Amino acid sequence: MSEKLFGTPLDVQDSWTRKVQRRSSWILPFLPLPAALLAYALLSVIQRPPAPANASEILSICDSLHEIPGVPKDFHSRTVSDRFVEGTKATFIRNATIWTGGRDGTELVYGDVLLDGGIVKALGYIPDGLLKGVKGRVNTINAYGSWVTPGLIDLHSHVGMLSAPLLKGAFDVGSRNGPMVPWMRSLDGFNTRDDARVLAIAGGVTTGLVLPGSGNAVGGQAFPFKFRKTQERSPSSMLIEPPFNLNDTAREPGTPLRWRHMKHATGENQLRYGTRMDSTWAFREGYEEARKIKVAQDEYCAKAKAGLWNDIKGIPFPYSLHWEALVDVLRGRVKVNCHTYEAVDIDFLARLTNEFKFPLAALHHSHEAYLVPDVIKKMWGKPPAVAIFATNARYKREAYRGSEFAPRILADNGIKVVMKSDHPVLDSRYLAYEAQQAHYYSLPSNLALSSITTTPAIAAGLDHRIGYIREGYDADLVIWDSNPLVLGATPKQVFIDGIPQLENPYVNEKPDWLQKVPRTPDFEDEIKATLEYEGLPPLTTKAKSKNVLFLNVQSLWTRQGDSIQPSFQAESANSSVVIVTDGKLSCFGDKGSCATASRVSYDVVDLKGGSISTGLTTSGAPVGLQEIPSEASTNDGALYDPFVGVPPVLGDDGTSIFASDGLQLQGRDALLAYRSGVTSSVSAWSAGSLFSDGVMFDGISVAFRTGAAHSLDKGAIIKSKAALHISISRSMFGSGPSVSTQIATLRRLLLRSPSDDAGNWFHKAALGEIPLVISVGSADLMANLIRLKKEVESETGSTMKWTFARASEAHLLANEIASSGISILLTRPRLFPTQWDDKRIIPGPPLSADSAISTLLKHNITVGLGTGENWEARNVRFDLAWAALDSGGELSLPEVLKLATVNMDHIFDIERGDGHLDDLVAFEGGTALDLESKVVAIISPEREVVELL
Ligand SMILES: *[C@@H]1O[C@H](CO)[C@@H](O)[C@H](O)[C@H]1NC(C)=O
Ligand SMILES: *[C@@H]1O[C@H](CO)[C@@H](O)[C@H](O)[C@H]1NC(C)=O
Ligand SMILES: *[C@@H]1O[C@H](CO)[C@@H](O)[C@H](O)[C@H]1NC(C)=O
Ligand SMILES: *[C@@H]1O[C@H](CO)[C@@H](O)[C@H](O)[C@H]1NC(C)=O
Ligand SMILES: *[C@@H]1O[C@H](CO)[C@@H](O)[C@H](O)[C@H]1NC(C)=O
Repeated sequence: MSEKLFGTPLDVQDSWTRKVQRRSSWILPFLPLPAALLAYALLSVIQRPPAPANASEILSICDSLHEIPGVPKDFHSRTVSDRFVEGTKATFIRNATIWTGGRDGTELVYGDVLLDGGIVKALGYIPDGLLKGVKGRVNTINAYGSWVTPGLIDLHSHVGMLSAPLLKGAFDVGSRNGPMVPWMRSLDGFNTRDDARVLAIAGGVTTGLVLPGSGNAVGGQAFPFKFRKTQERSPSSMLIEPPFNLNDTAREPGTPLRWRHMKHATGENQLRYGTRMDSTWAFREGYEEARKIKVAQDEYCAKAKAGLWNDIKGIPFPYSLHWEALVDVLRGRVKVNCHTYEAVDIDFLARLTNEFKFPLAALHHSHEAYLVPDVIKKMWGKPPAVAIFATNARYKREAYRGSEFAPRILADNGIKVVMKSDHPVLDSRYLAYEAQQAHYYSLPSNLALSSITTTPAIAAGLDHRIGYIREGYDADLVIWDSNPLVLGATPKQVFIDGIPQLENPYVNEKPDWLQKVPRTPDFEDEIKATLEYEGLPPLTTKAKSKNVLFLNVQSLWTRQGDSIQPSFQAESANSSVVIVTDGKLSCFGDKGSCATASRVSYDVVDLKGGSISTGLTTSGAPVGLQEIPSEASTNDGALYDPFVGVPPVLGDDGTSIFASDGLQLQGRDALLAYRSGVTSSVSAWSAGSLFSDGVMFDGISVAFRTGAAHSLDKGAIIKSKAALHISISRSMFGSGPSVSTQIATLRRLLLRSPSDDAGNWFHKAALGEIPLVISVGSADLMANLIRLKKEVESETGSTMKWTFARASEAHLLANEIASSGISILLTRPRLFPTQWDDKRIIPGPPLSADSAISTLLKHNITVGLGTGENWEARNVRFDLAWAALDSGGELSLPEVLKLATVNMDHIFDIERGDGHLDDLVAFEGGTALDLESKVVAIISPEREVVELL
């Protein structure tokens, strides 16, 4: 980079280049200038003051002011990508089902694809001539009909900024320097060593728009990165079409500008700078500053172009390095991505964009966007796309009205829908899962796939080269092991710039029925209610019945002893029924051999080939203890940290806190879980969660029915003191006690005689009278704890009931865990190296043959599959299904159902008798594991009722 380019006030980023053709002064009179200036200019041609030495530079800046980004004219005739890596072989993919992204996501091509030079050379039928051209340097892959899609694009990612494992030395997501930081660049904080980058590729994500955080109103410049590693190993070399203000010399004469990207954020996150009204003013003040600079530039240039050099003599071109990016927004050169949740903030953006006349590329998170489509349409220019999560909601007040039906409702209103991860909020690797869920909840399949490919490509201004499979497009594509909208769809191979990214992929060959777009249930009534109740439709049951006749039941799965068994499995559902009389199963199986009781009237429910199975249990998240996690007043509140201090009035170490005393029922996450077949939860505080730095005591959990009206409701409390919970974790910010202090504390509590209440509970744990659940990630710490267990057991002569929760690295110690009789509660069903303690995960297919679950189960360890956050509780059945799919058929339906039924009871010592009183869940259109089925009823023999949803 020359001094001249980057050191002078002429560094007007995109708007300037030395290479722009100089305009001869004789053209001036013909320029479309305001009439007065034109007349003045004509005069000054006669009496022109001498032009300054740098006049031509000034004029070329002025000429470039009105340029907007575009695609080079000959772009699509390129034969090689600018990102091509010398030596990359060509790839010939045969016999693929190619979803191209074309025709609004409905176009399919059956045939072949040829990749060469980092681009798609041809697809469909490949002419022999082309194949001859790559002879001797081509890899051929027979796809055997597999689905091939464009590489996935994550429009909202912090990969490289909040890195995995999270270390405070790489916490590069935002700025603490006030609400306006348009100068900040995510590129400058991008850590190429983020483990998540490789994991994201394994999920098919090839490009991510890496945004600064949402802690600033104008949060700085974002950059689209391709996630493959580069030979140069630099962040810069991972950028796709970086704007020329990063490197002016990269711009060839005649090349149009490239898009810049920016992050804005409104609402709650700005409260750190005052109120909403303060931050909206910050926006307007900042944009007014930019507007003044833009006007000054235009006026300056009008004079220069008119030859009025005297008027601007000695005056530098108006320019501000602080505000230039916002000036570029006003010049229409920036894709602005705005974090905006609520109607009030969306409304503000409609006013802001019209006041300052700039378009937005996308609204992010926008949990209320579906409620105000007309406001979105009022925004200046084209309505922005809306980038959202599928089911992650209610974590803060702004997200309370978030709906799983938002993608569908937005699409109905003609608004473009993008599904995104906000990685690491969700693991970018599972971006496809967001589209799968959106589809399950009624977004049409073409739009669901577009929402993670073409739609984000368009929103990022990159749809001339990514987001589609087309001739001349970047060779970024994914070969899938199933239809990509099927749960658990996993890449068999991922190409970025034509380079295969998975070295030795572990592929499960999936059957034909997983190669089709899933059928989706009918949610029309739910969608209507969602709109009618503005995002808060009642979640209580529609009706209760004592006597129900279920028709067309394919199978019935119940607990029998320590396993889940088929009570029946029909060849054809049509002839099978399940009859519930007085809230209890009275007959099931063949229609002919089952009779309804006489003189009893039955409600009839057609399960349409569906299935009935034992209600699921979740654990790990504080379901029933929080309503809106970030709002203390909706929650039980914080636990005392005995290492910091417990008020004497609490009596002892403050460790015998019962979650049952804080229970609150009828919360939305609990009810949504209930309605998804998760009929009970074992909840405790999770002190060991991400930012609770080294806090150790999580109290005593409660097992309860997620659908109960209140804690006195019949059957509400299943076990009031389920288990004693502690966390052994390393403190990220160094403020908590050391791990050795935590383990020493545990040793002392387990071994001392019960002198007080807390001691009493640990004493019970030492005697094996109450389960002890220890949240711990690292295998080293688990090993140390296993030694402690032996030490305590040899001292007391008892056998303790231990479970390791979190347990990210448990697979490394599977033998030892198995032989110590310790159970595992995975609170993150698909592992992620969140912190150092979780670093050594087993990633599962396609990166490893085994997953954590399959490894642990092979060692006969009792595994429970839980969740980490309340909103996830509703998705337990999909997590179970995923475990089965990842196992390549090794784990059957009853085996995975155990992970959230029998095994949970085992972990928490819950006695449910012989299974006759278990809640049963009726699914229409499939089993508990199908992304095609829907819960329609819950049968509760204990309460002698069937709840019809
Ligand atoms: C393409 O794959 C399908 C599905 O596996 C198969 O039925 C067909 O025979 C294959 N065709 C060729 C030409 O390999
Ligand atoms: C800028 O771009 C030019 C031309 O593409 C390239 O040769 C040079 O290495 C780049 N400089 C930097 C600092 O990236
Ligand atoms: C042109 O030169 C004048 C006099 O040296 C200086 O004041 C001005 O900043 C320069 N303008 C530009 C755009 O470089
Ligand atoms: C069985 O039910 C399915 C759908 O539930 C239907 O398509 C099919 O025709 C039925 N078969 C018989 C023999 O009734
Ligand atoms: C797990 O249990 C099964 C059945 O009891 C047994 O065959 C197998 O050897 C056990 N595996 C291990 C690793 O102990």
